[in-house]
Amino acid sequence: MKPAIDIREVVKRYDRFEALRSVSLTIGEGEFFGLLGPNGAGKTSLISIIAGLSRASEGACEVMGYDVVADFRQARRMLGVVPQELVFDPFFTVRETLRLTAGYYGVRGADPWIAEVLERLGLSDKADSNMRALSGGMKRRVLVAQALVHRPPVIVLDEPTAGVDVELRRTLWEFIGQLNRAGHTIVLTTHYLEEAQELCGRIAMLKAGRIVALAPTSDLLRDFSGGRLTLRLSCAPLPAGLQQLRVAAAADSTVAGVERVQLRLERYESLEPVLAALREAGCRIEEMELAHTDLEEVFVRVMQQEYGTDARALGGSQ
Ligand SMILES: Nc1ncnc2c1ncn2[C@@H]1O[C@H](COP(=O)(O)OP(=O)(O)OP(=O)(O)O)[C@@H](O)[C@H]1O
Ligand SMILES: [Mg+2]
Repeated sequence: MKPAIDIREVVKRYDRFEALRSVSLTIGEGEFFGLLGPNGAGKTSLISIIAGLSRASEGACEVMGYDVVADFRQARRMLGVVPQELVFDPFFTVRETLRLTAGYYGVRGADPWIAEVLERLGLSDKADSNMRALSGGMKRRVLVAQALVHRPPVIVLDEPTAGVDVELRRTLWEFIGQLNRAGHTIVLTTHYLEEAQELCGRIAMLKAGRIVALAPTSDLLRDFSGGRLTLRLSCAPLPAGLQQLRVAAAADSTVAGVERVQLRLERYESLEPVLAALREAGCRIEEMELAHTDLEEVFVRVMQQEYGTDARALGGSQ
């Protein structure tokens, strides 16, 4: 697969603080890629480097084969970025804003495409409104539109759905999905993990400036298969043999001798020995619920460093 984005040993320092600690990552052409991580992990720092908005302290980065520093203009042309922060010029209308962006990239005859993008993002009736007259969610839609004006082969979206209503989320993902099927490479950061799970074919997780997991989404889910078993038991405390499976949860409680606990099952087959242990201890199950592993569960566990020793899951930067 030809790389759309190639990041090699990128370090980013702000004074002495290292926001990125040697990140290496290759995203192939046509991928729908998720870049996940908690607040402050370094996602936006990495995207700023990819977009040529900030310089790496060390390392190099290419977009569609163009170095983001040496070939800045070509690299920038290959890329559409939806920034996390709402930045716009309040004196222009939506349409003018998009025409200006088209002009910046030297795109001619952009009007029909601008009209289509506005339509797809539900902005048609706001096309001639001033930017300052838009609501927050609508401003974000304009940022998305701006990133698409020059039809870049690589589209990077830094939390595009923060503060965006359900309907736009759906239409946005439909539109972005269509662009992806047409061959555009998509890179997405989001804190909505169910969005990432549904959309992204491959995911990198960043933690404190390092890649701590890098794998196809289906592998991540499979490697953490099993699930979380919630029980209400008549026999507090939980039998000693099961304590090690216990996950601390905010909702844990013991009320009138009934204990609510959550256990982590590595595999569904692990359910049998749990039930056997409860039976042996003379425990009655008042209530039981088994939830599937989802990306949120995977994320929490990766962030607790439970995935860090699996070489297959690590990025090349460790
Ligand atoms: N211009 C800057 N000067 C100093 N420190 C910065 C600067 N920009 C980012 N940082 C720091 O670098 C770290 C990574 O920030 P970054 O914005 O990349 O995180 P993020 O993963 O995008 O987080 P979020 O999910 O909150 O958007 C943070 O500790 C942040 O405080
Ligand atoms: Mg960010």
